[in-house]
Amino acid sequence: MSAPIGVFDSGYGGLTILKELKKQLPQYDYIYLGDNARAPYGTRSFETVYEYTLEAVKWFFDQGCSLVILACNTASAKALRNIQQLDLPHIAPDKRVLGVIRPSSEVLGNYSKSGHVGIMATVGTVQSDSYILELAKFFPSLQVHQQACPMWVPLIENGEYDKPGADYFVKAYLDHLFSQSKDIDAILLACTHYPLLEAKIRSYLPEGVKLVAQGQIVAESLAQYLDNHREIANKCSQNGTLSFYTTDNAQTFEKQASAFFGQKIEAKHTDLA
Ligand code: DGL
Repeated sequence: MSAPIGVFDSGYGGLTILKELKKQLPQYDYIYLGDNARAPYGTRSFETVYEYTLEAVKWFFDQGCSLVILACNTASAKALRNIQQLDLPHIAPDKRVLGVIRPSSEVLGNYSKSGHVGIMATVGTVQSDSYILELAKFFPSLQVHQQACPMWVPLIENGEYDKPGADYFVKAYLDHLFSQSKDIDAILLACTHYPLLEAKIRSYLPEGVKLVAQGQIVAESLAQYLDNHREIANKCSQNGTLSFYTTDNAQTFEKQASAFFGQKIEAKHTDLA
């Protein structure tokens, strides 16, 4: 039996990834879940993010999904490896859970000439050092400079991303990042919320610095994965449908979601655990 591809985020951010998946792989069905009732994840402990993410993954499996994308860097950093190595073999050996850190790490070094890249992410993602570890596998000589941006998700979730108040924190975190190295010439927005701040971030970037968002990268990587794993692709249904679930209020989710997804959506409430 085939079922939609599951796409998970702590809240709205994963919609920026889903938007690109839908663009590049429109034939598939997708089911999105935002754990808005417990967002943000970025400041939560390893144990909590793992527990919440595993509950979400089990929810997708209950919906019949064979493939789940953790479209959240924080969940990918803190929960993915445990879920893949400890949980899947027991609960669903035939199903797959993929994250966003590996596909981004596979290509990020290609954007830099200087060999210095910046990672802007939540506190949780930065503290996990997941990007340092993954990038070292693909670009061993790359110098990686990380900057936690704890105020960006709250600014975005509260609709302040295009208002003058956001400028202070955009500039402040960019200044901190460049104080680590003036040679940084490529920056990864390593949190799925951050594309909403893209215009403001660009306006403060020194000339010649590339700003890399993850949506397209993750979509290209998924397309390749599905080509290489036909046994999984065959279990993903293909009617071009989208459905959206949130653990919080569905009407609020519908109102906020269009800024991230670029079109109006209809959402339903669900409980986890
Ligand atoms: N969108 C999530 C990410 O990519 C972070 C948001 C949060 O802190 O919950 O890391």
